Amino acid sequence: MSTNTVDNARKVTTMRLREMKQRGEKIAMLTAYDYSMARLVDEAGIDVILVGDSASNVMIGNPTTLPITLDEMIHYARCVTNGAKRALVVCDMPFGSYQGNSKEALASAVRIMKESGAEAVKMEGGSEIRESVERILTAGIPVMGHLGLTPQSINKFGTYAVRARQDAEAAKLLEDARMLDEIGCFALVLEKIPAELAARVAAEVSIPVIGIGAGSGVDGQVLVLQDMLGITKGFSPKFLRRYADLSTVINTAIGSYIDDVKNVAFPNSDEQY
Ligand code: KIV
Repeated sequence: MSTNTVDNARKVTTMRLREMKQRGEKIAMLTAYDYSMARLVDEAGIDVILVGDSASNVMIGNPTTLPITLDEMIHYARCVTNGAKRALVVCDMPFGSYQGNSKEALASAVRIMKESGAEAVKMEGGSEIRESVERILTAGIPVMGHLGLTPQSINKFGTYAVRARQDAEAAKLLEDARMLDEIGCFALVLEKIPAELAARVAAEVSIPVIGIGAGSGVDGQVLVLQDMLGITKGFSPKFLRRYADLSTVINTAIGSYIDDVKNVAFPNSDEQY
């Protein structure tokens, strides 16, 4: 359980996140993709659980987020909403489910809300997807924006390097952030951009800005659960702080189990009927 005891039992809503920004309380967000982990993350007091399309990497083992389908995202989100009681659950709209046209985008978002029980969706992009975001908002579905490094566009970027270092890209990002705020998104993720730019966006927009590799001058932080728990290996961007080394813990526990089975040390007389 977190040491932060502020209002820990109250359900987190999009409105509440806005109030947190207004009073300067930072928002803690993590990803989760299954019932058991969502329950643990929720009980620990997280504010927002993101069912990220990073499930494509950490749950399915794909090299990018592009292959994950709408059906798969709905499945993971359903598992998470079964486990989360207090946190706001946001589900990523996967690549291909909203870029075509706004009608398809709305149909995808409606499926996520109806079939998974998630309370909001997240979409990558700015002016290019404005019409889709607006149509989804019109249906009463809360939308979290995502700018900066948008992994669904990795084939356009060609690299996972820091975005918006150049003036033109920074100016477009700022313009997109203002637009997403104005049309009614409830929050915005900024991924892997210079801290100074992220702080400027957070100061200029009224909605909470959640950073990942975007410095401390924003309204909250998000990390991929498997990365911060040290389950994933071989992925060590500068922004990633590992809060545990679960891969070693799991490896040691499984090694001990194997030894016990091989040596007939498990089960013992107390562990049988
Ligand atoms: O899919 C994801 O996990 C994300 C976060 C990294 C923000 O979009």
